Amino acid sequence: MQRPEVEFIQFDKRNMKVVDQCAELMSVSEPWITLRRTYDDVAKIITDETSEVHLAILRDEMIGFAIIKMRGSFVGYIQSIAVRPQHRGQGIGKRFMEYLERRIFSEQPNVFICVSSFNRDARRLYERLGYETIGELRDYIVKGHSEILMRKTVSPLSEFWKLKK
Ligand SMILES: CC(C)(COP(=O)(O)OP(=O)(O)OC[C@H]1O[C@@H](n2cnc3c(N)ncnc32)[C@H](O)[C@@H]1OP(=O)(O)O)[C@@H](O)C(=O)NCCC(=O)NCCS
Repeated sequence: MQRPEVEFIQFDKRNMKVVDQCAELMSVSEPWITLRRTYDDVAKIITDETSEVHLAILRDEMIGFAIIKMRGSFVGYIQSIAVRPQHRGQGIGKRFMEYLERRIFSEQPNVFICVSSFNRDARRLYERLGYETIGELRDYIVKGHSEILMRKTVSPLSEFWKLKK
């Protein structure tokens, strides 16, 4: 099958139409339904000044988005990633993750992501991409479900900063 021509770009948060589309996609998708994340919660995360938002675009249409943290105390954290349901399972999520890794590894030696304990498919995808499980945050967002913290690294911090100098 031919791969769709998907483009990945950083998003200008002043475009409220896209904020709307991202918030809508997240609020009707698992794992966020189980995690009880509302449209308003999502819009707040997206517009937060420490969030960097990236989009997957196919023929001028937003088909996926990701929120990453490149500032603050937990840098290199992929806070959310989602692909529209009709475009899943075609390799777009994998390429989106690889694009986000290039962005994060240009400034930091670690990429972190949390995956819900019931989201086994996504966890398998991250494992295949080289993410290692660091630990389990029990009852972290809602009672009865854990968040699994995962990490991919290219080097210890000290070596990374030495090379950056
Ligand atoms: C997780 C997600 C971003 C992956 O994007 P994708 O484009 O479907 O990923 P790819 O096509 O590159 O890879 C597909 C792999 O992801 C897995 N996957 C995870 N959730 C999936 C879903 N809802 N539909 C299809 N595949 C999914 C598939 O099982 C597949 O792995 P496999 O080949 O071992 O079966 C996307 O499925 C999604 O938006 N899911 C809902 C939101 C979500 O779970 N986000 C992650 C929160 S940590």
